[in-house]
Amino acid sequence: MTLAELENAKAQSLREIAAATDAAAVEALRVKYIGRNGSIPALIKAMKDVPKEERPAFGKAVQAWRAEAEGALAAKSSEAKCSPKTVETDLTLPGRWWKLGVKHPLSRIIEETAEIFARLGFTVADGPELENRFNNFTALNTPEHHPSQDRTDTFWFGDDCLLRTQTSPVQIRTMMANKPPIRVICPGRTFRRDTTDATHSANFHQIEGLYVDTKSVSLADLKSVLAYFAREMMGDGVTVRFRPHFFPFTEPSVEVDFTCHVCKGKGCGVCKQSGWIEVAGAGMVDPRVFGHVGYDAEKVSGYAFGFGAERIAMIKYGIPDIRWLYENDVRFLNQLG
Ligand code: DAH
Repeated sequence: MTLAELENAKAQSLREIAAATDAAAVEALRVKYIGRNGSIPALIKAMKDVPKEERPAFGKAVQAWRAEAEGALAAKSSEAKCSPKTVETDLTLPGRWWKLGVKHPLSRIIEETAEIFARLGFTVADGPELENRFNNFTALNTPEHHPSQDRTDTFWFGDDCLLRTQTSPVQIRTMMANKPPIRVICPGRTFRRDTTDATHSANFHQIEGLYVDTKSVSLADLKSVLAYFAREMMGDGVTVRFRPHFFPFTEPSVEVDFTCHVCKGKGCGVCKQSGWIEVAGAGMVDPRVFGHVGYDAEKVSGYAFGFGAERIAMIKYGIPDIRWLYENDVRFLNQLG
């Protein structure tokens, strides 16, 4: 190749580079001219065939070509990267995947409970977390000397204002605002001055239920409704048993156990070999409570119950520590999705 031919070839290469419009074309030209088997390295290898006296000038021209070609390629390649023309939509690529969150187990328990009771005609009632003494205690037939009213058990703000210790005050609010028949469940946050450990938390959730009617309501009605709930929530083969208990606002009062859903009542580690797991308090609404809300206790009767939402979540999902429900660790929460 003569010097003149070389200048021609160089001009041609620079024109090609200038005309390249995308990154692939730039890369092809890089391979063609300065790649290992490209034109410029081939010229350098062929240098020994150039007559000795022409060699320095020829060598200089080749180096200059190389430098200019490299510069032009580099400029083109960064231009090609930023050029919108090169951003093509490849419709064959898989779609982008956004990870969906999951509902918190407590929300799921509360929503599922509301759905189950909705099938029995119960609606959802709500009340404030900041309550007064009358709704949280007095109207629920709980005397002032009762330990739950103590400052060491309840978060008080002054004499008449407290963080509700139970969802039962929503019963009072609902009855004062409505006439029977009443069928409500009241899920919500409750507070007690408990030290937090694996089974206690100063802030937890309850799901209250209340049915009041002018026709006679019995303990058998309560039991059948709770048995239906047990089956729907925990699965076939789970039923309920009542144990006598005391609550100021119900008479008679019971504690409610579900058949252990793991061993179906045979006895296992989860139910401490008893076959039963305690889940709620319940009973027939005490006539004094009806008196406090202005109902005629001779004319109405009803039942009430209160579940611990955490308790249901823990037994249903096998969660050993209540604190896991509040730590918001996605490694835990995702497992329940
Ligand atoms: N409020 C009770 C508690 O926190 C639970 C309870 C028991 C609610 C009996 C009721 C009931 O409505 O009838 O321990």
